[in-house]
Amino acid sequence: MLHPPGRRLTIAPSLLAADFARLKDEVQAIEAAGADWLHLDVMDGHFVPNLSFGPLVLKALRPHTRLPFDVHLMISPVDPYLAAFAEAGADHILLVMTVNPGFGGQAFLPSQLAKIADLRRILDAADHPIALAVDGGIGPETARHAVQAGADTLIAGSALFGAADYTAAIAALRSASRQAQPLTSPTPQAAPTPQSLGPPPA
Ligand code: DX5
Ligand code: ZN
Repeated sequence: MLHPPGRRLTIAPSLLAADFARLKDEVQAIEAAGADWLHLDVMDGHFVPNLSFGPLVLKALRPHTRLPFDVHLMISPVDPYLAAFAEAGADHILLVMTVNPGFGGQAFLPSQLAKIADLRRILDAADHPIALAVDGGIGPETARHAVQAGADTLIAGSALFGAADYTAAIAALRSASRQAQPLTSPTPQAAPTPQSLGPPPA
């Protein structure tokens, strides 16, 4: 599905907001509801002040869903664990945090919109197909702003797993994103002429 900026929108529910006592059911329910990826927040209580889950949980869930695993590593050191997570099928994306990392359910930080717009310009100029994702405080209203700034991938925890109807919640994000208007490119400036530059410095 294309939205105004012409890119396909990807919805990546964050498992952090799911019912951990029913992880398999939650993953299957969100897949049936129309999710594109599953976002997995790995936290170590050191790089961020919270603990979540590690590769064993990913491995246990892997046979139960076809959703790609978007693995958000908030751990330090990270290198010793990369191979274990790569075996779980992690893909690379460009992620802009729109909350302070560590916890779900925080308010979206609008100050990050300028960074999203800058990254979108850089990626478009390089014609780079990498996904540009936003993570934190995403609901219908903030999704619209993020997509308008250039995001093409929405990671949402509480707005999806906290909803009574996962299908309706995902549809609401897609619908809000379609309200985003494409960014207008700035009017090209005429090249400065010697006259427009004024007299040479004395
Ligand atoms: C926060 C995590 C997010 C979080 C998003 O550190 O990276 O993925 O689960 O949760 P919401 O959508 O509730 O802000
Ligand atoms: Zn995350």
